[in-house]
Order: sequence, then C-alpha cells, then structure tokens
Amino acid sequence: MKNIVILISGRGSNMEAVVRTARSEGWPARVAAVISNRADAGGLAFAQAHGIPTAVVPSKNYPDRASFDAALQHEIDRFAPDLVVLAGFMRILTAPFVAHYEGRMLNIHPSLLPAHPGLDTHRKCLEAGEREHGATVHFVTAELDHGPVVAQARVPVLPGDTEASLAARVLLEEHKLYPYAVRLFIEDRLSIEQGDVRIAQPA
Ligand code: GRF
Repeated sequence: MKNIVILISGRGSNMEAVVRTARSEGWPARVAAVISNRADAGGLAFAQAHGIPTAVVPSKNYPDRASFDAALQHEIDRFAPDLVVLAGFMRILTAPFVAHYEGRMLNIHPSLLPAHPGLDTHRKCLEAGEREHGATVHFVTAELDHGPVVAQARVPVLPGDTEASLAARVLLEEHKLYPYAVRLFIEDRLSIEQGDVRIAQPA
C-alpha cells in the first residue's frame, strides 16, 4: 500500500478528485494525510469527513521560506509518503525541499505548460487570443511550473469565454487528469529519462 500526502491551500477540489478516485478504483494506495498551509482551507473539511488525517502548518508563523519548508517537510514525513501531491498549494518551494522529494512530488497547473507558468493563467490565455487552453501535471523541480510533464488535458477557448467560464472548463478536466496521473505513479509506470517522462504499459 503506497502512501500519498496531498498539500492544499484552499478549496481542494483536485484533492477531492484524487481521494474519490483512489477509493472508487481501489488503488493500492491510501491518502495518508492532507496538509494545508492555511487553517481556513476549505478542503480540510472534506478530508476530515472522509477519515483522512489533516494537519496545518501555517506559513504566516514562519519568518522565511526555509524555516517554513523545514517544518512542512517534518510534518509530511511523519506520514512516510511515497508520493507528495500538490493540489492548489500556493507556495513557492525552496530548492532543498524540492530536492528532498525529487521524483516523488507532482503538481497540477492550469495551463498547457510551457505556456503560462505562474498565476492568472486563464486571463493570460484569453489576452493572448489563444484558441486552446488546458492543464498540465508535472514532476516538481526547483523552477516554478517547470519539470517533466506527465500528462496534459486540452480544452477549446470558446467565443464569449470569461476567465470564470474558461477556468471552470479547465477544472473539469483537471479532476480527471490528476487522478489519472497519480494512478500512473502509484502503478510504478512513470520514469524520467533525460528530462522526459516515459509511461510504461500496464503490467
Ligand atoms: C487548480 O486550478 C489547480 O490547477 C491550481 O489551483 C487550482 C486549485 O483548485 N494549481 P483546487 O483547490 O484543487 O480546487
């Protein structure tokens, strides 16, 4: 049984999608903990209601990134994670923290990376007049929203789209994409070769 630790900062709908899919598909994995850097993260209530241990490491209590990341790492490692899943975790992580979880930490980003790293991806997509948008799951590396891509989901940009309508269309795809990608990891089907992700056939 593999242990997954999920980090959130807010609503936690991607966390919820992973928890629900892991259970409904009977993965050989458990979500061992959901950890937030904010006590008011909405997703904590869902985790608690589903019997998942939760913890809060309040980023505002730490003077700098290094001390926060050290405290967070300590909390995560109590749950012996095979995989750390960033699900709307709104923190820039330090290089030592990222190195500690190298090859076993995934993030989901609401754009077709390498397009639009950072914040406000839906607005940037609309402003650029693009006809396609989407989401990316990638391994986390020290550079923000970079790192080897595991999977992407594409959606069309439709006439009259607003940031909200586009975000909602992308989010629906995120809720399928992230469980798919996490499952590939859990099944030991992912490897990184010369910076690219290889997906092995099912055993
Ligand atoms: C998602 O759009 C995710 O791609 C981005 O932040 C949002 C988090 O939403 N990183 P939720 O907390 O999973 O509902």
